[in-house]
Amino acid sequence: MAVDIYKGLVRPLLFSGLKTDPEWLHKTTLQWLGALNERRDAAAMALLRRQIQNRCSYSDPRLNQSCFGLQFPNPVGLAAGFDKDGAAAGLWSDFGFGFAEMGTVTWHAQAGNPQPRLFRLIEDEAVLNRMGFNNLGAQALADRLRDVNARGAASAMAPTDAATVAPLGINLGKSKITPLEQAVDDYCSSFKVLRDLGDYFVVNVSSPNTPGLRQLQAAEQLSPILAGLQALNIQQRPLLLKIAPDLSEADIAAIVEVALEQKLAGIIATNTTIDRSNLKTHRLSATGNLVTEEAGGLSGAPLRQRSTEVIRFIHRETQGRLPIVGVGGVASAADAWEKITAGASLVQLYSGWVYQGPEMMRHLLQGLAEQLDQAGFACINDAVGTANGSHS
Ligand SMILES: Cc1cc2nc3c(=O)[nH]c(=O)nc-3n(C[C@H](O)[C@H](O)[C@H](O)COP(=O)(O)O)c2cc1C
Repeated sequence: MAVDIYKGLVRPLLFSGLKTDPEWLHKTTLQWLGALNERRDAAAMALLRRQIQNRCSYSDPRLNQSCFGLQFPNPVGLAAGFDKDGAAAGLWSDFGFGFAEMGTVTWHAQAGNPQPRLFRLIEDEAVLNRMGFNNLGAQALADRLRDVNARGAASAMAPTDAATVAPLGINLGKSKITPLEQAVDDYCSSFKVLRDLGDYFVVNVSSPNTPGLRQLQAAEQLSPILAGLQALNIQQRPLLLKIAPDLSEADIAAIVEVALEQKLAGIIATNTTIDRSNLKTHRLSATGNLVTEEAGGLSGAPLRQRSTEVIRFIHRETQGRLPIVGVGGVASAADAWEKITAGASLVQLYSGWVYQGPEMMRHLLQGLAEQLDQAGFACINDAVGTANGSHS
Protein backbone atom coordinates (compact mmCIF):
# COMPACT_ATOMS: atom_id res chain seq x y z
CA MET A 1 0.00 0.00 0.00
CA ALA A 2 2.69 2.49 1.01
CA VAL A 3 4.63 1.68 -2.18
CA ASP A 4 1.47 2.66 -4.03
CA ILE A 5 1.55 5.96 -2.14
CA TYR A 6 5.13 6.50 -3.32
CA LYS A 7 4.40 5.43 -6.88
CA GLY A 8 0.91 6.90 -7.04
CA LEU A 9 1.44 10.16 -5.18
CA VAL A 10 4.94 11.02 -4.01
CA ARG A 11 6.77 10.13 -7.20
CA PRO A 12 4.35 11.86 -9.62
CA LEU A 13 4.41 14.92 -7.36
CA LEU A 14 8.19 15.06 -7.16
CA PHE A 15 8.99 13.96 -10.71
CA SER A 16 6.13 15.40 -12.80
CA GLY A 17 4.14 17.88 -10.68
CA LEU A 18 6.87 19.85 -8.95
CA LYS A 19 9.38 18.81 -11.61
CA THR A 20 12.05 18.70 -8.91
CA ASP A 21 15.58 18.82 -10.19
CA PRO A 22 16.90 15.24 -9.90
CA GLU A 23 20.23 16.31 -8.45
CA TRP A 24 18.60 18.62 -5.89
CA LEU A 25 16.25 15.82 -4.83
CA HIS A 26 19.12 13.35 -4.55
CA LYS A 27 21.20 15.79 -2.51
CA THR A 28 18.29 16.62 -0.22
CA THR A 29 17.49 12.92 0.33
CA LEU A 30 21.12 12.26 1.22
CA GLN A 31 21.20 15.24 3.58
CA TRP A 32 18.20 13.79 5.45
CA LEU A 33 19.71 10.34 5.52
CA GLY A 34 23.06 11.80 6.59
CA ALA A 35 21.40 13.64 9.48
CA LEU A 36 19.62 10.44 10.52
CA ASN A 37 22.88 8.53 10.20
CA GLU A 38 24.65 11.03 12.48
CA ARG A 39 22.15 10.35 15.24
CA ARG A 40 21.49 6.73 14.48
CA ASP A 41 22.75 5.42 17.80
CA ALA A 42 20.67 7.87 19.85
CA ALA A 43 17.92 6.20 21.88
CA ALA A 44 15.26 8.40 20.28
CA MET A 45 16.27 7.12 16.85
CA ALA A 46 15.70 3.48 17.72
CA LEU A 47 11.95 3.70 17.13
CA LEU A 48 12.33 5.50 13.81
CA ARG A 49 14.95 3.04 12.62
CA ARG A 50 12.77 0.13 13.68
CA GLN A 51 9.90 1.59 11.65
CA ILE A 52 12.10 2.02 8.61
CA GLN A 53 13.33 -1.55 8.97
CA ASN A 54 9.79 -2.91 9.33
CA ARG A 55 8.59 -1.11 6.21
CA CYS A 56 11.65 -1.46 4.04
CA SER A 57 13.51 -4.64 4.88
CA TYR A 58 12.76 -8.33 4.94
CA SER A 59 14.86 -11.13 6.32
CA ASP A 60 14.84 -14.81 5.49
CA PRO A 61 17.86 -17.04 6.21
CA ARG A 62 17.41 -18.62 2.76
CA LEU A 63 18.41 -15.26 1.27
CA ASN A 64 21.77 -15.24 3.10
CA GLN A 65 24.61 -15.43 0.64
CA SER A 66 28.26 -16.18 1.08
CA CYS A 67 30.60 -14.78 -1.52
CA PHE A 68 34.35 -14.07 -1.73
CA GLY A 69 34.72 -14.84 1.95
CA LEU A 70 32.00 -12.42 3.09
CA GLN A 71 28.57 -13.18 4.52
CA PHE A 72 25.64 -11.19 3.14
CA PRO A 73 22.22 -11.10 4.87
CA ASN A 74 20.65 -11.00 1.40
CA PRO A 75 22.08 -10.83 -2.12
CA VAL A 76 20.79 -7.38 -3.13
CA GLY A 77 22.95 -4.31 -2.53
CA LEU A 78 22.96 -0.59 -3.19
CA ALA A 79 25.07 0.15 -6.28
CA ALA A 80 27.90 2.69 -6.33
CA GLY A 81 27.15 6.32 -7.02
CA PHE A 82 24.18 6.84 -4.73
CA ASP A 83 26.19 7.47 -1.57
CA LYS A 84 29.55 8.51 -2.97
CA ASP A 85 30.88 10.07 0.25
CA GLY A 86 29.39 7.61 2.72
CA ALA A 87 26.86 10.11 4.08
CA ALA A 88 24.45 7.34 5.15
CA ALA A 89 27.00 4.52 5.39
CA GLY A 90 25.53 3.15 8.62
CA LEU A 91 21.93 3.12 7.46
CA TRP A 92 21.60 1.21 4.23
CA SER A 93 20.80 -2.12 5.82
CA ASP A 94 17.80 -0.47 7.54
CA PHE A 95 16.42 0.02 4.02
CA GLY A 96 16.79 -3.69 3.34
CA PHE A 97 20.05 -3.70 1.40
CA GLY A 98 22.22 -6.76 1.93
CA PHE A 99 25.32 -4.65 1.25
CA ALA A 100 26.12 -1.15 0.05
CA GLU A 101 28.88 0.26 -2.11
CA MET A 102 30.22 3.71 -1.27
CA GLY A 103 31.96 5.84 -3.90
CA THR A 104 33.09 6.21 -6.53
CA VAL A 105 35.75 8.14 -4.66
CA THR A 106 38.88 9.51 -6.23
CA TRP A 107 42.24 10.45 -4.69
CA HIS A 108 41.65 14.16 -5.33
CA ALA A 109 38.35 15.69 -4.25
CA GLN A 110 36.56 16.92 -7.36
CA ALA A 111 33.42 18.84 -8.29
CA GLY A 112 32.42 16.71 -11.26
CA ASN A 113 30.92 17.95 -14.52
CA PRO A 114 28.89 21.14 -14.97
CA GLN A 115 25.17 20.94 -14.16
CA PRO A 116 22.67 19.87 -15.33
CA ARG A 117 24.19 16.41 -15.30
CA LEU A 118 21.47 14.12 -13.95
CA PHE A 119 18.24 13.45 -15.84
CA ARG A 120 15.19 11.22 -15.43
CA LEU A 121 13.79 9.51 -18.51
CA ILE A 122 10.46 8.74 -16.88
CA GLU A 123 8.81 6.96 -19.83
CA ASP A 124 11.80 4.63 -19.99
CA GLU A 125 12.17 4.14 -16.21
CA ALA A 126 15.74 5.21 -16.81
CA VAL A 127 18.31 7.69 -15.54
CA LEU A 128 20.94 9.50 -17.61
CA ASN A 129 23.92 10.83 -15.69
CA ARG A 130 27.20 12.51 -16.43
CA MET A 131 28.07 13.38 -12.84
CA GLY A 132 31.81 12.87 -13.45
CA PHE A 133 32.77 11.41 -10.05
CA ASN A 134 31.82 14.42 -7.93
CA ASN A 135 33.15 13.46 -4.50
CA LEU A 136 34.98 14.78 -1.47
CA GLY A 137 38.00 12.55 -2.04
CA ALA A 138 39.33 9.31 -0.57
CA GLN A 139 40.66 10.89 2.62
CA ALA A 140 37.28 12.46 3.43
CA LEU A 141 35.55 9.09 2.93
CA ALA A 142 38.13 7.46 5.22
CA ASP A 143 37.45 10.07 7.92
CA ARG A 144 33.73 9.62 7.49
CA LEU A 145 33.82 5.83 7.75
CA ARG A 146 36.15 5.98 10.76
CA ASP A 147 33.69 8.29 12.45
CA VAL A 148 30.75 5.99 11.62
CA ASN A 149 32.66 3.00 13.01
CA ALA A 150 33.82 4.87 16.10
CA ARG A 151 30.30 5.76 17.15
CA GLY A 152 29.57 2.40 18.56
CA ALA A 153 28.67 0.06 15.73
CA ALA A 154 30.55 -3.18 15.31
CA SER A 155 30.57 -2.39 11.61
CA ALA A 156 29.70 0.63 9.53
CA MET A 157 26.44 -1.06 8.66
CA ALA A 158 25.54 -2.99 11.75
CA PRO A 159 21.78 -3.38 11.72
CA THR A 160 19.99 -3.35 15.04
CA ASP A 161 18.87 -6.96 14.93
CA ALA A 162 19.95 -8.84 11.83
CA ALA A 163 22.12 -11.88 12.42
CA THR A 164 24.46 -11.14 9.52
CA VAL A 165 26.03 -7.70 9.21
CA ALA A 166 25.69 -6.16 5.77
CA PRO A 167 29.12 -5.67 4.15
CA LEU A 168 30.29 -2.27 2.98
CA GLY A 169 32.09 -1.92 -0.34
CA ILE A 170 34.24 0.97 -1.52
CA ASN A 171 34.43 1.86 -5.20
CA LEU A 172 37.61 3.58 -6.41
CA GLY A 173 37.98 5.74 -9.52
CA LYS A 174 40.69 7.82 -11.15
CA SER A 175 40.85 11.56 -10.43
CA LYS A 176 40.10 13.64 -13.51
CA ILE A 177 43.28 15.72 -13.13
CA THR A 178 45.50 12.63 -13.03
CA PRO A 179 46.78 11.64 -16.48
CA LEU A 180 45.93 8.09 -17.60
CA GLU A 181 49.65 7.15 -17.40
CA GLN A 182 49.60 7.89 -13.66
CA ALA A 183 46.39 5.98 -13.00
CA VAL A 184 48.13 3.25 -10.97
CA ASP A 185 49.40 5.75 -8.37
CA ASP A 186 46.06 7.49 -8.21
CA TYR A 187 44.09 4.26 -7.48
CA CYS A 188 46.79 3.08 -5.05
CA SER A 189 46.79 6.35 -3.07
CA SER A 190 43.04 6.03 -2.50
CA PHE A 191 43.34 2.36 -1.57
CA LYS A 192 46.09 3.05 0.98
CA VAL A 193 43.89 5.39 3.02
CA LEU A 194 40.76 3.26 2.71
CA ARG A 195 41.99 -0.33 2.78
CA ASP A 196 41.12 -0.93 6.45
CA LEU A 197 37.66 0.53 6.10
CA GLY A 198 35.88 -1.47 3.42
CA ASP A 199 34.79 -5.10 3.41
CA TYR A 200 35.46 -5.23 -0.33
CA PHE A 201 36.88 -2.86 -2.95
CA VAL A 202 35.96 -2.14 -6.54
CA VAL A 203 38.15 -0.78 -9.31
CA ASN A 204 35.99 1.37 -11.50
CA VAL A 205 37.37 1.70 -15.01
CA SER A 206 33.98 1.79 -16.65
CA SER A 207 32.37 5.17 -16.06
CA PRO A 208 31.68 6.93 -19.36
CA ASN A 209 31.97 10.31 -17.62
CA THR A 210 35.71 10.62 -16.99
CA PRO A 211 37.60 11.25 -20.23
CA GLY A 212 39.63 8.19 -21.28
CA LEU A 213 38.71 6.11 -18.23
CA ARG A 214 37.23 3.23 -20.21
CA GLN A 215 40.55 2.82 -22.04
CA LEU A 216 41.86 1.44 -18.74
CA GLN A 217 39.75 -1.67 -19.40
CA ALA A 218 42.36 -2.77 -21.97
CA ALA A 219 44.45 -5.63 -20.55
CA GLU A 220 47.80 -3.81 -20.82
CA GLN A 221 46.43 -0.81 -18.87
CA LEU A 222 44.37 -2.82 -16.43
CA SER A 223 47.00 -5.33 -15.29
CA PRO A 224 49.36 -2.79 -13.66
CA ILE A 225 46.48 -1.11 -11.80
CA LEU A 226 45.21 -4.40 -10.40
CA ALA A 227 48.73 -5.67 -9.63
CA GLY A 228 49.55 -2.39 -7.84
CA LEU A 229 46.44 -2.64 -5.70
CA GLN A 230 46.94 -6.33 -4.91
CA ALA A 231 50.52 -5.59 -3.81
CA LEU A 232 49.10 -3.17 -1.23
CA ASN A 233 46.27 -5.51 -0.29
CA ILE A 234 47.97 -6.96 2.78
CA GLN A 235 44.71 -7.91 4.43
CA GLN A 236 43.57 -9.64 1.25
CA ARG A 237 40.31 -7.76 1.04
CA PRO A 238 38.20 -8.91 -1.92
CA LEU A 239 39.05 -6.76 -4.93
CA LEU A 240 36.53 -6.57 -7.76
CA LEU A 241 36.44 -4.89 -11.15
CA LYS A 242 33.44 -3.01 -12.51
CA ILE A 243 33.05 -3.18 -16.26
CA ALA A 244 31.04 -1.38 -18.93
CA PRO A 245 28.16 -2.98 -20.83
CA ASP A 246 29.46 -1.55 -24.10
CA LEU A 247 32.28 -4.06 -24.58
CA SER A 248 32.54 -6.82 -27.17
CA GLU A 249 32.65 -10.46 -26.06
CA ALA A 250 36.34 -10.55 -27.02
CA ASP A 251 37.03 -7.54 -24.79
CA ILE A 252 35.14 -9.11 -21.89
CA ALA A 253 36.97 -12.40 -22.33
CA ALA A 254 40.31 -10.54 -22.19
CA ILE A 255 39.25 -8.71 -19.03
CA VAL A 256 38.14 -11.96 -17.40
CA GLU A 257 41.56 -13.43 -18.13
CA VAL A 258 43.27 -10.47 -16.42
CA ALA A 259 40.85 -10.75 -13.49
CA LEU A 260 41.74 -14.41 -13.00
CA GLU A 261 45.48 -13.71 -13.37
CA GLN A 262 45.30 -10.92 -10.79
CA LYS A 263 43.27 -13.08 -8.42
CA LEU A 264 40.33 -10.73 -8.33
CA ALA A 265 37.39 -11.72 -6.14
CA GLY A 266 34.86 -10.99 -8.85
CA ILE A 267 33.44 -8.80 -11.60
CA ILE A 268 30.69 -6.21 -11.29
CA ALA A 269 28.63 -6.20 -14.46
CA THR A 270 27.72 -3.57 -15.42
CA ASN A 271 28.15 0.17 -15.24
CA THR A 272 25.89 2.53 -17.24
CA THR A 273 25.70 2.36 -21.04
CA ILE A 274 26.44 4.89 -23.75
CA ASP A 275 23.94 3.09 -26.02
CA ARG A 276 20.78 5.10 -26.74
CA SER A 277 18.79 2.62 -28.82
CA ASN A 278 15.09 1.79 -28.30
CA LEU A 279 14.35 4.70 -25.98
CA LYS A 280 10.82 6.12 -25.80
CA THR A 281 12.23 9.48 -24.68
CA HIS A 282 13.58 11.48 -27.61
CA ARG A 283 14.37 14.84 -26.07
CA LEU A 284 15.43 15.82 -22.56
CA SER A 285 13.02 18.47 -21.33
CA ALA A 286 15.73 19.95 -19.07
CA THR A 287 18.02 20.82 -22.00
CA GLY A 288 15.76 20.57 -25.04
CA ASN A 289 18.38 18.38 -26.71
CA LEU A 290 17.92 14.96 -28.32
CA VAL A 291 18.84 12.12 -25.94
CA THR A 292 21.17 10.82 -28.63
CA GLU A 293 23.12 14.10 -28.44
CA GLU A 294 23.48 14.14 -24.66
CA ALA A 295 26.65 12.78 -23.12
CA GLY A 296 26.41 10.44 -20.16
CA GLY A 297 25.64 6.92 -19.01
CA LEU A 298 22.17 5.43 -19.15
CA SER A 299 20.87 3.18 -16.37
CA GLY A 300 17.58 1.55 -15.41
CA ALA A 301 15.21 -0.53 -17.54
CA PRO A 302 16.92 0.03 -20.93
CA LEU A 303 20.14 -1.45 -19.53
CA ARG A 304 18.53 -4.55 -18.01
CA GLN A 305 18.87 -6.99 -20.86
CA ARG A 306 22.38 -6.01 -21.90
CA SER A 307 23.79 -6.29 -18.38
CA THR A 308 22.19 -9.72 -18.01
CA GLU A 309 23.81 -10.79 -21.30
CA VAL A 310 27.20 -9.71 -19.95
CA ILE A 311 26.60 -11.66 -16.73
CA ARG A 312 25.60 -14.77 -18.71
CA PHE A 313 28.66 -14.47 -20.93
CA ILE A 314 31.09 -14.15 -18.01
CA HIS A 315 29.46 -17.02 -16.13
CA ARG A 316 29.73 -19.28 -19.19
CA GLU A 317 33.25 -18.12 -19.99
CA THR A 318 34.47 -18.87 -16.45
CA GLN A 319 32.13 -21.80 -15.75
CA GLY A 320 31.10 -20.01 -12.58
CA ARG A 321 34.67 -19.74 -11.24
CA LEU A 322 34.59 -15.96 -10.88
CA PRO A 323 31.79 -14.49 -8.73
CA ILE A 324 29.67 -11.93 -10.56
CA VAL A 325 27.79 -8.99 -9.06
CA GLY A 326 24.97 -8.26 -11.50
CA VAL A 327 23.74 -4.69 -11.87
CA GLY A 328 21.62 -2.91 -14.44
CA GLY A 329 17.88 -2.33 -14.56
CA VAL A 330 16.86 -4.37 -11.54
CA ALA A 331 13.43 -3.14 -10.43
CA SER A 332 11.70 -6.30 -9.20
CA ALA A 333 12.28 -9.77 -7.79
CA ALA A 334 11.87 -11.19 -11.31
CA ASP A 335 14.68 -8.92 -12.58
CA ALA A 336 16.99 -9.92 -9.72
CA TRP A 337 16.12 -13.59 -10.22
CA GLU A 338 16.93 -13.34 -13.92
CA LYS A 339 20.40 -11.98 -13.10
CA ILE A 340 21.01 -14.59 -10.39
CA THR A 341 20.00 -17.49 -12.61
CA ALA A 342 22.15 -15.99 -15.41
CA GLY A 343 25.14 -16.28 -13.08
CA ALA A 344 25.17 -13.40 -10.60
CA SER A 345 25.96 -14.40 -7.00
CA LEU A 346 24.97 -10.92 -5.85
CA VAL A 347 22.87 -8.16 -7.39
CA GLN A 348 22.93 -4.38 -7.04
CA LEU A 349 20.55 -1.61 -7.99
CA TYR A 350 20.33 2.15 -8.16
CA SER A 351 17.77 3.47 -10.66
CA GLY A 352 15.10 0.96 -9.56
CA TRP A 353 15.15 2.44 -6.07
CA VAL A 354 14.63 5.95 -7.49
CA TYR A 355 11.54 4.78 -9.37
CA GLN A 356 10.12 2.23 -6.93
CA GLY A 357 10.71 4.07 -3.66
CA PRO A 358 12.10 3.13 -0.27
CA GLU A 359 9.86 0.11 0.32
CA MET A 360 11.09 -1.56 -2.83
CA MET A 361 13.57 -3.82 -1.10
CA ARG A 362 10.98 -5.48 1.12
CA HIS A 363 8.89 -6.44 -1.89
CA LEU A 364 11.92 -7.50 -3.87
CA LEU A 365 13.28 -9.73 -1.11
CA GLN A 366 9.89 -11.28 -0.39
CA GLY A 367 9.61 -11.96 -4.11
CA LEU A 368 13.03 -13.62 -4.16
CA ALA A 369 11.99 -15.91 -1.30
CA GLU A 370 8.90 -16.83 -3.33
CA GLN A 371 11.07 -17.54 -6.37
CA LEU A 372 13.07 -19.97 -4.22
CA ASP A 373 9.86 -21.74 -3.19
CA GLN A 374 8.63 -21.98 -6.78
CA ALA A 375 11.94 -23.25 -8.11
CA GLY A 376 12.42 -25.65 -5.19
CA PHE A 377 15.84 -24.26 -4.19
CA ALA A 378 16.95 -24.23 -0.56
CA CYS A 379 18.96 -21.01 -0.83
CA ILE A 380 20.00 -18.27 -3.25
CA ASN A 381 23.35 -19.83 -3.98
CA ASP A 382 21.58 -22.91 -5.38
CA ALA A 383 19.97 -20.70 -8.03
CA VAL A 384 23.14 -19.01 -9.29
CA GLY A 385 23.71 -19.71 -12.98
CA THR A 386 20.97 -22.32 -13.25
CA ALA A 387 19.51 -20.72 -16.37
CA ASN A 388 22.89 -21.28 -18.02
CA GLY A 389 22.63 -25.00 -17.88
CA SER A 390 25.43 -25.18 -15.32
CA HIS A 391 25.70 -24.79 -11.59
CA SER A 392 28.17 -22.52 -9.80
C1 LIG B 1 23.36 9.09 -10.90
C2 LIG B 1 24.23 7.89 -11.00
C3 LIG B 1 25.53 7.96 -10.53
C4 LIG B 1 26.35 6.84 -10.61
N1 LIG B 1 27.62 6.92 -10.13
C5 LIG B 1 28.40 5.84 -10.15
C6 LIG B 1 29.70 5.87 -9.59
O1 LIG B 1 30.13 6.89 -9.03
N2 LIG B 1 30.44 4.74 -9.67
C7 LIG B 1 30.00 3.59 -10.25
O2 LIG B 1 30.72 2.60 -10.28
N3 LIG B 1 28.76 3.53 -10.78
C8 LIG B 1 27.96 4.61 -10.73
N4 LIG B 1 26.70 4.54 -11.25
C9 LIG B 1 26.28 3.29 -11.92
C10 LIG B 1 25.49 2.37 -10.98
O3 LIG B 1 26.30 1.94 -9.91
C11 LIG B 1 24.99 1.14 -11.76
O4 LIG B 1 26.09 0.41 -12.24
C12 LIG B 1 24.11 1.54 -12.94
O5 LIG B 1 23.31 2.64 -12.62
C13 LIG B 1 23.22 0.39 -13.38
O6 LIG B 1 22.34 0.02 -12.35
P1 LIG B 1 20.80 0.52 -12.27
O7 LIG B 1 20.19 0.26 -13.63
O8 LIG B 1 20.20 -0.30 -11.18
O9 LIG B 1 20.85 1.97 -11.96
C14 LIG B 1 25.86 5.63 -11.18
C15 LIG B 1 24.54 5.56 -11.62
C16 LIG B 1 23.72 6.66 -11.53
C17 LIG B 1 22.29 6.56 -12.01
